[in-house]
Amino acid sequence: MVLAPAKQERGRCNVSRAAVLQGIGAVVPPRVVDNDELSRSLDTNDQWIRTRTGIGQRHWTDAGTTTGDLAAEAGQRALKSAGVDSVDMVILATSTGNQVMPATAPEVAETLGLGRVAAHDVSAACAGFIYALSSAAGALAIGGAERVLVVGADVWSTRLNPDDRSTAIIFGDGAGAAVLRAGDADEPGALLGFELGSDGSGRELAQVAGGGSRELSAGRPPRPDDAYLTMQGKEMFTHAVNRMAESSQRLLDRIGWGVEDVTWCAAHQANVRIINTIADVLELPRERMLVHLDRVGNTSAASIPLALTDAAGAGRLQAGDGVLMTAFGGGLSWGSTAVRWPAMDVLSI
Ligand code: UT7
Repeated sequence: MVLAPAKQERGRCNVSRAAVLQGIGAVVPPRVVDNDELSRSLDTNDQWIRTRTGIGQRHWTDAGTTTGDLAAEAGQRALKSAGVDSVDMVILATSTGNQVMPATAPEVAETLGLGRVAAHDVSAACAGFIYALSSAAGALAIGGAERVLVVGADVWSTRLNPDDRSTAIIFGDGAGAAVLRAGDADEPGALLGFELGSDGSGRELAQVAGGGSRELSAGRPPRPDDAYLTMQGKEMFTHAVNRMAESSQRLLDRIGWGVEDVTWCAAHQANVRIINTIADVLELPRERMLVHLDRVGNTSAASIPLALTDAAGAGRLQAGDGVLMTAFGGGLSWGSTAVRWPAMDVLSI
């Protein structure tokens, strides 16, 4: 079903509407892969992984489950949380779409029975969910949509080199989604602003080198390893801390929040040491950082909605709380946004 657009004054762009969070939901696949299981095939151990990353386990899909499958399930949960069964746009943040072309969002819309709605993917790696929220907010602001389903989903387990202990221990699969509707800037749930950035000079720090025009136009046979995710962990660690802390501070300054306004910070769940260092730089008590990676690992574009759904489902995150979201990933790309949490029902993951 396509919703009726907002009535617009003739010849005038309607840019005064805020994006208001109406529902949220998330899912991880059932298969748990704990650190001991990885230690059987890799030169690593539970103690190293827990101490250096904070991760105790992650969930990986079984054969046959796609990113689109997880995205649709998370989307279903977000629609239920919002109490609606229609949207007029679907935006899926992912770097592990079902195929190179076309985008996966139209398939998600079809699976959810949403009709011929606008649907597209956003590719911004682990920062994808924030970028997708920003795209949705833009569409809502100009009357291009009345309600948008934003999903962050990734299935990195299919692109991990089983012999690479620096990536195999970190990444988990999952999907998280939010329903945004057009509303007023002073309503609870209104996204209060965005701060986004990128630095293409760091594109090789986290990448899947193959499959794109760079490889295909080079005229050499593809190398099997180019299908895998590679990451220069130390460099990414430093960028992650600096970019998320700077972006968060710029956003807080822009929206007039001090750290006392931040009840919870949902930072990208890559490594608990990154999360703690961001807290220290921002002078936020570490207890206000949401930590979910101990149970799901780094779920890339899904990590922020998963962490929010986990906290809201457990009753820790409550209506009225000030929430700062900040993310960083390959690209390099990063972004932050903030919201005063609205009252809504949330299904536990
Ligand atoms: O989501 C997108 C953004 N991604 C990130 O932000 C990821 C950021 N990076 C990280 O989280 C960390 O850099 C890693 C978890 C990937 C690696 O942790 P680290 O503390 O930076 O380890 P390191 O690469 O500096 O290695 C330290 C030591 C080395 O041994 P030596 O040379 O000191 O003897 C490594 O060989 O730890 C060793 N090591 C491991 N040992 C056991 C590296 N990985 C492992 C492992 N198990 N899995």
